[in-house]
Amino acid sequence: MSVITEMQDTIDQLIDYRRGILAADESTGTIAKRFADVGIDSTEENRRAYRTLLLSAEGAGDAIAGVILYEETLGQAADDGTPLPELAAARGIIPGIKVDKGKGPLPGAPGDMITYGLDGLAERLETYKAQGARFTKWREVYPITDHNPTRLGLEANAEMLARYAAVCQSVGVVPIVEPEVLIDGDHSMARSATVNEQVWHSVFHALHQHGVLLEYMILKPSMVTPGKSAARATPAQVAELTLQTLRRTVPAAVPGINFLSGGQSPDEATANLNALNQFHDKTPWQLGFSFARALQEPAMSAWRGDPANVPAAQGAFLERARLNCLAMQGEYQASMET
Ligand code: G3H
Repeated sequence: MSVITEMQDTIDQLIDYRRGILAADESTGTIAKRFADVGIDSTEENRRAYRTLLLSAEGAGDAIAGVILYEETLGQAADDGTPLPELAAARGIIPGIKVDKGKGPLPGAPGDMITYGLDGLAERLETYKAQGARFTKWREVYPITDHNPTRLGLEANAEMLARYAAVCQSVGVVPIVEPEVLIDGDHSMARSATVNEQVWHSVFHALHQHGVLLEYMILKPSMVTPGKSAARATPAQVAELTLQTLRRTVPAAVPGINFLSGGQSPDEATANLNALNQFHDKTPWQLGFSFARALQEPAMSAWRGDPANVPAAQGAFLERARLNCLAMQGEYQASMET
């Protein structure tokens, strides 16, 4: 099979108007923080049990088209010995993998960050493919301050995303390109729109320079919202400014935009996604979700590491996923929250 056929096949399954993507790719450090918030020890066994719980939920494949896994999970198995990527695939959920190696400060650009992990990526991808992964994710992070992101920060981060995406496509793996503009701070919505516009513009410029085929990638951006410490915006305001900014910067050839939740509460992220999808006929891309926290928080709180709570946790996960699928149709209402 040619790499193009492979990627087309993956895109055809991932860009599904009825379903979104589950981000379950928290690094060991990040999942430890999420677990600690609800009193769970971050042992390898707990991480395996928790991710098994999500992937084995009966009906998960009705709402989830793909799952982004962490490297550790790719090699783990369910209680009956089924490898977790195989368990996902059996549910109609395509396994993917986060391939970046985390972030650190960008020298020469105080306040900006840069993500590591390009060395040896092509070789790692062959191993991940053999383990069942068909798509990947790489995240660059942009804090907003009065001085950030800098011009150097914008260019360096865009370059990393483009080089990553080009390597993935060269071996037939669909890249999810995730430029996350952080919600931390008290910046206004207008400032968030300005920064996101600069970020998306620089990312698509770099993708073009590196010959990345836009038809075979997915964009995973932040929504345009005010900073976390500023007054909240309504879903209609978020949708209006997010769409205006996307239209200015994202080519129509991109098949799907799957938003991250970025610290929004589960119901806030769903309401915003719903508002974005009120304009279905006016956007060239499918607008879906690739949430981690906003999809998993209720499930993690319900589970708390106790096997007796697995059914309740699976129920909470499936309900959140169902509401987000309704939001992809623009059919979610706040009154549906229990
Ligand atoms: O890299 C971050 C995840 O893929 C998305 O996580 O929805 O909690 O922002 P989030």
